[in-house]
Amino acid sequence: MPVPGTLTTAPQVDFELEVVAGQWPSDISGEMVFSSPNNSRKLNAAIFDWGAIVRLSLEPGGRGAAPQHFAWQTRTIQTPGKRLFDLHPELFHGTPTGYQSPFGPSNASNTAPLPWGNRLYTTWDAGRPVELNPETLEFVGEVGHLDSWGGSSMETAGVMPFLFSSAHPVVDPERNCLWTVKMDFVMEPSFGLRPAVVRYDPDGTTVKYWPLDGIVFGSSIHTVSQTRNWVILADSGNFKADPNEVFGGERTVTIDDEVPVWLIRKDQLDGLASGTPVKPVPFMMSPSVGHYYARWDDTDGVSVVWEGMDLMDLGQYLKASDLDVNGKPIDPDLVGLYNMAMAPETIVEVQFDPETGKVTEQGSYKADWTFNLQLSAIDWSTEGMSNPTLHHVSYQGCRPGNITDRAARLYEGRIDRELVARETPGVLATFERGSMELKSKWEYSDLGDHITSPTFAPRNVGADASLSSYSGNKPGGHDGYVVQPVQNDNGFRVEVFDAANVGAGPVAVLQGTNKECVPMVLHSAWMPAYHELAPAERLKFSSELSEARLASVPEELRTSVHHVAAECDEI
Ligand SMILES: [Fe+2]
Repeated sequence: MPVPGTLTTAPQVDFELEVVAGQWPSDISGEMVFSSPNNSRKLNAAIFDWGAIVRLSLEPGGRGAAPQHFAWQTRTIQTPGKRLFDLHPELFHGTPTGYQSPFGPSNASNTAPLPWGNRLYTTWDAGRPVELNPETLEFVGEVGHLDSWGGSSMETAGVMPFLFSSAHPVVDPERNCLWTVKMDFVMEPSFGLRPAVVRYDPDGTTVKYWPLDGIVFGSSIHTVSQTRNWVILADSGNFKADPNEVFGGERTVTIDDEVPVWLIRKDQLDGLASGTPVKPVPFMMSPSVGHYYARWDDTDGVSVVWEGMDLMDLGQYLKASDLDVNGKPIDPDLVGLYNMAMAPETIVEVQFDPETGKVTEQGSYKADWTFNLQLSAIDWSTEGMSNPTLHHVSYQGCRPGNITDRAARLYEGRIDRELVARETPGVLATFERGSMELKSKWEYSDLGDHITSPTFAPRNVGADASLSSYSGNKPGGHDGYVVQPVQNDNGFRVEVFDAANVGAGPVAVLQGTNKECVPMVLHSAWMPAYHELAPAERLKFSSELSEARLASVPEELRTSVHHVAAECDEI
């Protein structure tokens, strides 16, 4: 069975789900939010299309659903770029990093939802975080005036900047700020990207940034992690720009086996003028990685779960002309999706020692079935991040129909073709933090099941979630629920597991009342249900429209820019 075709063909629509198996737990609350790229089929890579925010209420009857039903709501994120696209779709064309137009590059904000207290943001790697109204899910504003980011990552014409950032900023519960990054294209000391650590404080229209002194690299920083005292940045290594491809040629760049990691002390940045370079503590780590999560408490060292992405090259995507690794034509519905993992993936817990520069492995896990380590479910409360107990991971299984022969040939000598020729089931697995010992697993024997974006929902949060930083009574990841979405061409399901024993199978299963299918969803997050937009000073699109920036837009299009700015001013 291939990956469900409905990932690219199902519409973004609201519907309701109902319990079709088991019993819905009475001590689960709040909602699960997802980022989901629309698929207009105008872009080569569907993962760069305009983002939608999707919300699943975990409370029966919540968010306007019928009694005993669960609301699924989806809204396209109306950034200034999306509003300009709606006025002039013919002026937008696809590039390797999303839509480009005479108005400038667009912020699709399609990758991850980021709840922060009573506020909700969405993110992606090629733009600033975007704030949404947690009640209506409408666009509110972008984070940080362009000038405070130090300008665009690369000078481009138009009123929208190109800010190469991270899809996973992290919320600092002690400093009450957001840590993220910005990459600038530089020529010195060599051609490449110079990263800067970025801080955003929630009430205001600016960010602060500090370039990493002397660091230039050629990839991206998909995740930002932290401990109480350190910000942790890593070169993701699995999404590399290929200049040949940018100019219309065949992709020949491959991902790295080893990537640099940089630790920056937070107190080094306190009071330091924005723009001042800082020296990070460097390390090297293997394999390349998409996501990594540090324990908040660093009294005994900087301990990080490293969700390895062995031979997962996100720069490779499926073309209509492709054959798969078994020589079969690619399913036309899957064109535009990314090329899936070409090896089983390694999860490892490591300790970085900033004093000695040493990396010590504490435990790791890899087996023939650990293909497509998709995403994990974590207790994100401060208490849970301080003393994590369990780490839940969704593996989608090996999908040869989503591995192109073109990619396999490019990776000849690094891939085991025999191992990737056969499909394996998806697995939801629980590991013990520290040892990475496999504690429990649940296998999806139906190969048509495509499991995605799990999240952890704490138990018994109570009416005011903010009292306990969202944690349940026993934080860490074992006391609560793992909510596992399952995409399938026969209907989308949401399965809820007891986090202490996922191997026992789901305690309850939801399905759409008309067996609806849903389009591809990327990251998810759990949050309490909030019903109003918190008061704060926020950036307006109009405040970035300097004369010089407006002048770089063709004269006949400036009316549309003013129209969108006026619309956004009214939010
Ligand atoms: Fe991600």
